[in-house]
Amino acid sequence: MKKKVMLLIVMVMSILMSMTAFAGVWRTGAAPNESRWWYDNEDGTWASNGWQWIDGNQDGTAECYYFDSEGWIAADTMTPDGYQVNGDGAWVENGLVMTLAVSIPAASTQTDANSSLVVYFSRTGTTEGAARRIQELTGADLMEIEAADPYPGSYSETLSRAERELDQDARPAVTTAIEDMAQYDVVYVGYPIWFGYAPRPVLTFLESYDWSGKTVVPFCTSGGSGISGSLGEIRESCPGANVSEGRRVNDTSSIESWLRSLGLIS
Ligand SMILES: Cc1cc2nc3c(=O)[nH]c(=O)nc-3n(C[C@H](O)[C@H](O)[C@H](O)COP(=O)(O)O)c2cc1C
Repeated sequence: MKKKVMLLIVMVMSILMSMTAFAGVWRTGAAPNESRWWYDNEDGTWASNGWQWIDGNQDGTAECYYFDSEGWIAADTMTPDGYQVNGDGAWVENGLVMTLAVSIPAASTQTDANSSLVVYFSRTGTTEGAARRIQELTGADLMEIEAADPYPGSYSETLSRAERELDQDARPAVTTAIEDMAQYDVVYVGYPIWFGYAPRPVLTFLESYDWSGKTVVPFCTSGGSGISGSLGEIRESCPGANVSEGRRVNDTSSIESWLRSLGLIS
């Protein structure tokens, strides 16, 4: 009995340390081990050498599994330390699967590098510079929003076209397509301010995706205008997203402390 209490304490401690740090995925081995399971922590390591509580489907309930020194799960057997595991490898006592309620890390805190994306529109490179700085700091993927009909090199011609598109609330076609937007939890959206608003192609892009449950972090550059006037449209274009307050980032040296204040980098 004492042994079991100790085991539980060790397990609870290990879950507190591991469950909040990463979420992994179950995998089967390559032939001839295709019927054997191991747990990929998805950070270059795997579960091995003893017990681990795992909430495989992230529903807030973890089961306890035993892994050998190579990382293979023990299933339908007695573990070397004398506990029964069922055919799925879960620890059972008197036929009952032992479970532990675990907290699921909040989606809004520190995010994995590969679960965030920086998208930006930039005609003359200023916003692109800020986007690249965010990518550098977060490790996010980077993608440019490009109009199918590119804006002219001439400033005055761009002004006329942009003004016309704003008056008509146009949605100019874009060539950018994100294959699997579902993989991203956090999307940084960057654009220059044009007549107080985001350029229309940015809205074309935003309106093409399902934003529910995502965090959208707007950023802009401008000749002086702030970002606030553009945010209403950004929010409308991303229904269901948590759109953070956003920032004008002409001074790229301010980006690091801003992202830190949002809890997006540590
Ligand atoms: C069509 C157009 C409209 C603009 N309107 C504004 C504006 O309303 N307020 C402002 O401060 N800057 C305005 N600007 C300046 C741009 O926002 C600024 O130069 C921006 O940093 C350019 O970013 P980019 O190099 O990524 O294209 C405008 C520029 C263009 C081309």
